[in-house]
Amino acid sequence: MEVQVLVFLLLSFFISSKLWVSSADPGGRFKSIFNFGDSLSDTGNYLAVGAPRFPLIKQLPYGETFFKKATGRSSDGRLIIDFIADYLGLPFLPPHRKLVGGPYVKTGVSFAVFGATALDPDFFYSQNLGPTLRTNDSLSIQVGWFKKW
Ligand SMILES: *[C@@H]1O[C@H](CO)[C@@H](O)[C@H](O)[C@H]1NC(C)=O
Repeated sequence: MEVQVLVFLLLSFFISSKLWVSSADPGGRFKSIFNFGDSLSDTGNYLAVGAPRFPLIKQLPYGETFFKKATGRSSDGRLIIDFIADYLGLPFLPPHRKLVGGPYVKTGVSFAVFGATALDPDFFYSQNLGPTLRTNDSLSIQVGWFKKW
């Protein structure tokens, strides 16, 4: 069976990292990557909304070794998702927040947001932890963007 879409779930919320890949791709069958997660795979969504709670990400040294400018990645270089895309022969995943209202990118996008949580913000607010959140764009919000994509 040919697999058209590869969905990665990069969840670093409560465990260090979990990567789900439906199968290996020896024949170049994967046409798209849709990525959900937090700063481990945010290619610029948090920056696209102004990086309100972590403005340092707007400047070097973020991005300095590969992109030569801050892209919103939480790294001075590329992220693992960039290497995965490269390995599969796909372009780097553009951040969804920069594409809203723009063209459909059929090779996939990243919905991941710096500081995102797996649980919804309501939970954190109910525990008086709401002010510690860097973003309200939890996993269910990201999946909502994907459903509209
Ligand atoms: C999350 O939403 C709440 C309620 O609307 C708001 O007060 C808070 O500032 C938001 N947090 C972030 C990080 O945007």
